[in-house]
Amino acid sequence: MPEVKEIRASELDTKEFIEKKVSEIRQTVGNGVAINALSGGVDSSAVTMLGAKALGQRLKTYFIDNGIMREGEPEQIVSVFKNMGVNVEIIDAQEEFFSALKGIEDPEEKREAITQTFYKKVFGNLVKKSGAKYLLQGTILTDIDETVAGIKRQHNVFEQLGIDPQEAFGYKIIEPLVELRKDGVRKVAQALGLPSSIYNRMPFPGPALCARVIGEATRERISLVRKATSILEEELASVKAFQYMAILHNDRVTGMRDNKRDFGQQIEIRCWDSIDARKATPTRLDFSLLEKLANRIVKEVPGVVSVTYNIAAKPPSTIEAV
Ligand code: XMP
Repeated sequence: MPEVKEIRASELDTKEFIEKKVSEIRQTVGNGVAINALSGGVDSSAVTMLGAKALGQRLKTYFIDNGIMREGEPEQIVSVFKNMGVNVEIIDAQEEFFSALKGIEDPEEKREAITQTFYKKVFGNLVKKSGAKYLLQGTILTDIDETVAGIKRQHNVFEQLGIDPQEAFGYKIIEPLVELRKDGVRKVAQALGLPSSIYNRMPFPGPALCARVIGEATRERISLVRKATSILEEELASVKAFQYMAILHNDRVTGMRDNKRDFGQQIEIRCWDSIDARKATPTRLDFSLLEKLANRIVKEVPGVVSVTYNIAAKPPSTIEAV
């Protein structure tokens, strides 16, 4: 992998950076068409804006609805971009993802199923159909470091798409954010005019709500954790924390409802204080806030009889449970 020179957030001139990247994208793509997938995260959002600024309608942006996003997320993201004058097409791929996840309980196998379905099936087909010769990707410097260190899977789109570079001669990957880290990308996203709901966005994992369901991620179990997540995000909206989440456990516990025994579901809440996710400690949330959360979750999420709050730090815990 060629050496990439880091641009630190403190020395980043966003105006100059944006102008340079827009002109580079224009030069590379020429009269051609480019394609990209938007998830609503800060990296793919910044790339979408840079691409749209450079290419206008010649950038085809897709939001892949994998069925494991949060409540209303696809529509919210598309509407943010519509307000910015950027057209994003939602691709309904829920069926593909849920059938790939069927019967899988192992965390790494779940991640692998999502990656394969995204690259090989859904996005791979879109790229082939679109006839685009250029792919815009939101790879950042941290992704490259992690790839080199073997922590994350290769960010090699050719390989992930199952495309033989020889056969697909002419395909080019454009990675405009590759000199930046997350704090730099946030500055660029803000300078591009994106709203704070995007540039200050709380981290959300690629495997989405699937990372918050222990065991098999069926439509029903995702729907359950999605409801708990909505309540949590509403109640904790004003809390200053690095990240918070609701997790659906795989084992059940005895509870009681309407004077009857109910062997019900358990939701675990996590809320983290952290600088960079490498170390994290549980936020000392107000107990009355936790009680309010628990009351709402048992009332509003069907079948839940237990709500717990994680008080173990990372390490040895991790931020996500899966
Ligand atoms: P962990 O659980 O490893 O999480 O302490 C550290 C940070 O990374 C996010 N995370 C992921 N992000 N794909 C992602 O894009 C993943 O598979 C993944 N797993 C964890 C997590 O939300 C936290 O911010």
